[in-house]
Amino acid sequence: MEAKSVSAVPAKLMKIALIVGALCGLYLMALSSHAERDQLRKASVDLTPNCKAKLEGYGLVAAEHYRSPYVQAVNGVDSTVRGYSEQDVRSIQRGCNIVDDLQGQLAKRGARERWNADRFVRGTYTTCIHCHQSGGDKHDTAGKPVSGSNNLGASWVMADMYDRFSGLIMSHELRQMQCYINASNGFKPNSADDLIRDVTAYSRFLSAALDQKMGQRYAEQGLDEIPFSATRRRGDDYVRGAHVYREKCANCHGPQALGMVVQGKVLYPALAGPQSFTMDSRMYFGTLNSLMPGFICRNMPLGAEGSLDNQDCRDIAYYLGTLPRPAGDRQGPLVAAWQQVMMGVMPPLTRYAESLGRNHTEHPGD
Ligand code: HEC
Ligand code: HEC
Repeated sequence: MEAKSVSAVPAKLMKIALIVGALCGLYLMALSSHAERDQLRKASVDLTPNCKAKLEGYGLVAAEHYRSPYVQAVNGVDSTVRGYSEQDVRSIQRGCNIVDDLQGQLAKRGARERWNADRFVRGTYTTCIHCHQSGGDKHDTAGKPVSGSNNLGASWVMADMYDRFSGLIMSHELRQMQCYINASNGFKPNSADDLIRDVTAYSRFLSAALDQKMGQRYAEQGLDEIPFSATRRRGDDYVRGAHVYREKCANCHGPQALGMVVQGKVLYPALAGPQSFTMDSRMYFGTLNSLMPGFICRNMPLGAEGSLDNQDCRDIAYYLGTLPRPAGDRQGPLVAAWQQVMMGVMPPLTRYAESLGRNHTEHPGD
């Protein structure tokens, strides 16, 4: 009896010591990751080639005042606003890197330099510039921002703005978070995460560089909608869509819209399949049938923007909407499982069917 109770005491102590030890371990890990974050905040930033060109072109340096060379050259006016500290400049630079190269494929230290953004994205190749072209700052040949080009500066100046699709007032931060979940098929970072704050700093800088005024709505903000009523109302057509896609888009985005990756870098983004946006994204025709047509008509085919008519854009978006892609939160587990199966089965089946079709046309007498 006595011996038992004596040995029970050290066993209990051992258990407590183990728990305390584990908690101390977690605390030390948290401290070291905080220290690492702090170091990253203070470190100088290696810009991606796109960001280097853009931020140098906009004359970003730490100073008391900021004067945009763009505004001077294009609008012919002088605009001077409050300048940026060294810390602001680094935040803007990191924000640009995140938008340009979300998963750190161009970074020396990989995703770590992007605040480990890859934690929030399921696919390997998603980057914000696939849909927010030229770092959310697309210009035409005359140097003016393009209507319906999802400009990030124009989004920032409407900071807490009414969202015409959800009917909610959504902050710039919430809008970014939505794009992680739906457009990038991922998870939501905290709204105070450095990942979000740096992109906000970058967007805010863009608005100063472009002289966009707080609270104003600009044509380059968001995407333009092409509703059914803006066509000749022949109805959206899968067959026409597939045909125009093959003619105008497939040489870049691939015959099954799975995109093209060369040496680990995206040349052309996937518009369907596991690397693409989800069924909850506003780009998905089944969720919002006017927005992807708007993207296509204003911004594609790359190099020949504006060459398609409204009906073509709706037909293509309809066709792309039928290809398998990841389900979103709203579709539930059954649809998600079905989409997973289809993403595995459809590409080889389609390839096979197409090879039969080719043989058939090669030997019309068979
Ligand atoms: C698959 C395409 C796609 C990708 C990738 C994408 N976005 Fe978006 N983004 C959209 C669409 C579509 C909208 C909604 C536009 C609208 O409402 O007119 C949007 C809206 C936004 C807005 C609000 C813009 C506004 O004016 O309302 C922000 C901010 C934003 N995205 C940030 C990001 C960030 C940051 C990333 C990268 C992590 C990203 N997006 C990746 C498609 C995309
Ligand atoms: C010359 C190559 C090229 C052609 C042709 C082309 N695209 Fe793209 N597309 C791109 C590139 C590159 C991007 C990424 C954004 C950028 O860099 O401007 C893109 C982006 C997109 C996106 C947004 C990205 C995403 O993840 O959803 C859509 C949608 C799209 N293209 C549709 C089309 C459609 C539809 C056509 C045919 C009408 C087409 N593209 C033709 C190269 C091309």
